[in-house]
Amino acid sequence: MGRGQQMSMYDVEKSIPGGGLRSMTKRRVVVVALVSFFLPFVITSTYLYYTTPDAATEAMLFLQRRPFSGFSPSLTDDTNASSIINDTTGSETNTTDSLDAKQEEVDAEDTDPEAIELDPSETNSSANETSAALESSLQEQAKNSTSEILPLLTMGLSNTTNSTKKEACDLVKGSWVPDSRPPQYTNSTCGFIQGHQNCMKNGRKDRGFLHWKWKPDQCELPRIDPPSFLTAMRDRSMAFAGDSIARNQFQSLLCVLSQVEQPDHTYNAPDDRDNVWVFRKHNFTLAIYWSPYLVHVEDKEITFSSDNQTRTVAFIHVDRLDKAWVDRIPGVDILQLSTGQWWFKRGLFLQEGKPLGGHICDGWAECEKEIGFADPYRTTIRTILRGSLSIPGYSGTTILRTFAPEHFEGGSWNNGGQCVRTAPGGVPVSSLTKWMYDIQMEEFLNVTSATSGSEKDRIKVLDITNLAQIRADGHPNSFMRFQPFAKEFTQKIQNDCLHWCLPGPIDTWNDLLVESLRDAVYKQ
Ligand SMILES: *[C@@H]1O[C@H](CO)[C@@H](O)[C@H](O)[C@H]1NC(C)=O
Ligand SMILES: *[C@@H]1O[C@H](CO)[C@@H](O)[C@H](O)[C@H]1NC(C)=O
Ligand SMILES: *[C@@H]1O[C@H](CO)[C@@H](O)[C@H](O)[C@H]1NC(C)=O
Ligand SMILES: *[C@@H]1O[C@H](CO)[C@@H](O)[C@H](O)[C@H]1NC(C)=O
Ligand SMILES: *[C@@H]1O[C@H](CO)[C@@H](O)[C@H](O)[C@H]1NC(C)=O
Ligand SMILES: *[C@@H]1O[C@H](CO)[C@@H](O)[C@H](O)[C@H]1NC(C)=O
Ligand SMILES: *[C@@H]1O[C@H](CO)[C@@H](O)[C@H](O)[C@H]1NC(C)=O
Ligand SMILES: *[C@@H]1O[C@H](CO)[C@@H](O)[C@H](O)[C@H]1NC(C)=O
Ligand SMILES: *[C@@H]1O[C@H](CO)[C@@H](O)[C@H](O)[C@H]1NC(C)=O
Ligand SMILES: *[C@@H]1O[C@H](CO)[C@@H](O)[C@H](O)[C@H]1NC(C)=O
Ligand SMILES: *[C@@H]1O[C@H](CO)[C@@H](O)[C@H](O)[C@H]1NC(C)=O
Ligand SMILES: *[C@@H]1O[C@H](CO)[C@@H](O)[C@H](O)[C@H]1NC(C)=O
Repeated sequence: MGRGQQMSMYDVEKSIPGGGLRSMTKRRVVVVALVSFFLPFVITSTYLYYTTPDAATEAMLFLQRRPFSGFSPSLTDDTNASSIINDTTGSETNTTDSLDAKQEEVDAEDTDPEAIELDPSETNSSANETSAALESSLQEQAKNSTSEILPLLTMGLSNTTNSTKKEACDLVKGSWVPDSRPPQYTNSTCGFIQGHQNCMKNGRKDRGFLHWKWKPDQCELPRIDPPSFLTAMRDRSMAFAGDSIARNQFQSLLCVLSQVEQPDHTYNAPDDRDNVWVFRKHNFTLAIYWSPYLVHVEDKEITFSSDNQTRTVAFIHVDRLDKAWVDRIPGVDILQLSTGQWWFKRGLFLQEGKPLGGHICDGWAECEKEIGFADPYRTTIRTILRGSLSIPGYSGTTILRTFAPEHFEGGSWNNGGQCVRTAPGGVPVSSLTKWMYDIQMEEFLNVTSATSGSEKDRIKVLDITNLAQIRADGHPNSFMRFQPFAKEFTQKIQNDCLHWCLPGPIDTWNDLLVESLRDAVYKQ
């Protein structure tokens, strides 16, 4: 055959005696192979779908895709990840917890600005058209978005704020309105902004996202006033326990307060998981403890029969509080707890030391029964809220921060998903977000309805899910400095649409935190 001519499959078959028969066999083999490849996925998805009745298919697909863990790609259970970050495979004691620290380490090494740039071949070529189109409709959408999203997320709120008399105003019902004030700090006045959340430094150009404030329908939400906050908290302490989004929020608070007084760094765990800062002039202590599940977790090396590979799997004890924070909170006055995205990972759940079942049972013998993570998560929320009431030496106020939504659009976290918006609005609540949020609120109400008097006043909820949902514009997206996997991975580059730029809308969470705790903060 000459140049430009092509032999079709049909021609090939005709030209080989017996080709038709062979190709039928081939087809059968292919069909069988395809069916056996996809069948487990179909079964798993169907099972997950029916065992988690509230979740729509969308949420389940999202789970299958292993949502962005919020820490580093290595937490995604990708086979490849363990070969890149060795922390998880090497030692039993250094658990996935240290991955964030590892990320910092690579971060620090990775000063080459070129490394931040996206590989053009990996960017979605239609991305900037998309962003242009988005921008034109954003302003209008912003006006509408609040009302569209709110009805989904207003469950049970009027009752939760009842115990504090000041809050005749529901702080959670409201909208984002334009705000001409500058943020309370910048990347040059605050030294606590982590590299991958320092969006401006990393090249983010638009500034519109800094000029919105949360306006509750019935009142104003004041910004934290650092001098009066620090004065009110004199000789007292506040602690956060959670994952890297908790740290993100913690750093925002450090930034705001450090405008008045530079704190001393009095404790830093070797792998950076825990940090304590003291504002000496006010003798106010602010601490963060790394505890992504909030309950006790053992990381175990498991060999998977499917590929004989060893991976680290979290064995999660849903009825045991994590000592990482419990042991440190005696004497603490205010404690914020949060847990979320880590539950989407593979894990085995235990109660009273006995396995209940697991999540993502894809070929490891210990996972005898796929139970999804919803029930274990629910039990955990109850465990931490109830449990926090009876920790010896701790008589402070516990506030549960609700689920922090992510905003990947046009793809998933590991598949070119991005967040290119520059104004609030527009992204509908995912079923997964609503699902996590509902579990938190239901359990919050469950626990508070079973307690009374001073105990009831000791548990609060910080409901940021709705107001954060509307702020898809607040994430670093590609302006996270840290992109070390671009070269190693052939898959699309990852954008961060989960953590938040500092300064940015996450600052509002702390305004809301202080306002929700006004009685506890400004008590005399
Ligand atoms: C890592 O991923 C690449 C491409 O996806 C693949 O070729 C390679 O086999 C993977 N390595 C491991 C250890 O799984
Ligand atoms: C992980 O670290 C151990 C010891 O530090 C080393 O022997 C092993 O080759 C490393 N594995 C990978 C995949 O880098
Ligand atoms: C494990 O963590 C401890 C502190 O928790 C640290 O001292 C040690 O260097 C870590 N080991 C590795 C291999 O990262
Ligand atoms: C897309 O981005 C490139 C490079 O940033 C720019 O030159 C081009 O004008 C953009 N196209 C549109 C339609 O914004
Ligand atoms: C906003 O709401 C108005 C009426 O409520 C509607 O006419 C308009 O189409 C909406 N705009 C968008 C972008 O949804
Ligand atoms: C909230 O309170 C009202 C009246 O006090 C009650 O009817 C309603 O069921 C409560 N809602 C929840 C979710 O507890
Ligand atoms: C709020 O609390 C007061 C007194 O504790 C009670 O009488 C009232 O019914 C509560 N309101 C709601 C909506 O639960
Ligand atoms: C702050 O951001 C600007 C860009 O707005 C950047 O040039 C500068 O390097 C950043 N400074 C720090 C300390 O991060
Ligand atoms: C500082 O506050 C702590 C409680 O957080 C208290 O125990 C300590 O006595 C205070 N120190 C001074 C010098 O007042
Ligand atoms: C796993 O290893 C065992 C023995 O080490 C071997 O018999 C088996 O074929 C391996 N399975 C796979 C999927 O590689
Ligand atoms: C590029 O992004 C657009 C919109 O965000 C999406 O529709 C399209 O599928 C993406 N293309 C690829 C190759 O991911
Ligand atoms: C709280 O949860 C427990 C355990 O599931 C259940 O028995 C109880 O009925 C719930 N209480 C409320 C008020 O929902």
